[in-house]
Amino acid sequence: MIVLIGLMGSGKTTVGRKLAGFMKTKFVDSDELVEAKTGRKVREIFSDLGEGEFRRLESEVLRDVCGEGNDIVLAVAGGAILSQENRELLTSTAKNIVWLDAPTPTLVERTGVDQHRPLLDGDPSGTLTKMRADRERLYAEIASQKIATESLDADQVVTEILRVCRIDHDAKSARK
Ligand code: S3P
Repeated sequence: MIVLIGLMGSGKTTVGRKLAGFMKTKFVDSDELVEAKTGRKVREIFSDLGEGEFRRLESEVLRDVCGEGNDIVLAVAGGAILSQENRELLTSTAKNIVWLDAPTPTLVERTGVDQHRPLLDGDPSGTLTKMRADRERLYAEIASQKIATESLDADQVVTEILRVCRIDHDAKSARK
């Protein structure tokens, strides 16, 4: 299993989908799993049920997917690592946990293109700055590798992930 972590806008979903396509393996995104499970969008879950319920659902889908086997690329939504239980689950399940990062202004720019992140309503720059301060040590705690994506396009990030995880380009050795 390859797990991608990082703040909103770091490219986990875009890169994860490409990486899984390249490796001919399954791709899952924790937000998409929560949406599929509830039949509601993340924004609706936050507004109708609250962040606490979202976090509970998030932990639930992570437990499910981590029990599914190793042949998976998993993009983990930015806030899931706040839970110690989730961090322990991920580190005990995945050999490769790759932290994708970019400077905060870049994250602000990338997340500005759509409206599906309720926590970024209002002051995205201030919020992402605070999230970085609060979360950076948690990403660092569980990451096996970190990639600075600022000057790379998605394909180059995929190549970099394969390199840092020492995965053969035929992807066979990633199946563990
Ligand atoms: C969040 C990240 C989002 C989504 C929700 C909250 C966070 O996922 O789960 O808006 O707290 O960082 P992405 O990191 O996939 O954007």
